[in-house]
Amino acid sequence: MSDDASHGMEQTLRRELRTGDIRLRAAGVAPAQLRAVRRTLRATNRLETMAVQVYRAQWSPEPTELNRQLIAAMDNELTHQADSLSRLMEYGGRPMLMRGPFYVVGWVLGRVSRMLGLRAMLRLGAWVEAKAIDHYAHLTAAVDWDPATHDLLVGMWNDEKCHLRRWTHLLEHPEEALAPPREPPAPQ
Ligand SMILES: [Fe+2]
Ligand SMILES: [Fe+2]
Repeated sequence: MSDDASHGMEQTLRRELRTGDIRLRAAGVAPAQLRAVRRTLRATNRLETMAVQVYRAQWSPEPTELNRQLIAAMDNELTHQADSLSRLMEYGGRPMLMRGPFYVVGWVLGRVSRMLGLRAMLRLGAWVEAKAIDHYAHLTAAVDWDPATHDLLVGMWNDEKCHLRRWTHLLEHPEEALAPPREPPAPQ
């Protein structure tokens, strides 16, 4: 999702993947290319894992706009985490055995920023998204991707730009972050 506007409809359940949505993509790919693809998809999955944990650790139950946006941020990064993991496996890459350190680092960064206050939380969010934007800019150019994976990565890259704009907006308007949530427009 790269648009901040609500569609005026409540989300119920994401479309379930069909078996046909999964392609086994490694056949016929040169070994060096395959290694590069797997390495970059693993790096992507690590980064997304950390991002999920940052937002999860920053969230608290108070009904504020910030906490609403943190749920959306975590959810969007969970989608990126899942998509990068399944694409890695489609290319025959084994998922990382030990993702624990990335969970821990993300969680600690999120919690420490929460203890330091709103500005630190928003600055960490902006830093995470800026890192992700750099990462996607580099990796889309670094590997000769198949068109479908290239489109997936560019879509994730665009999502990160949208996420960065949300945090920079709240950094400029911190009063909005602590206010009750802005409700989406009612369905027409
Ligand atoms: Fe992401
Ligand atoms: Fe993001």
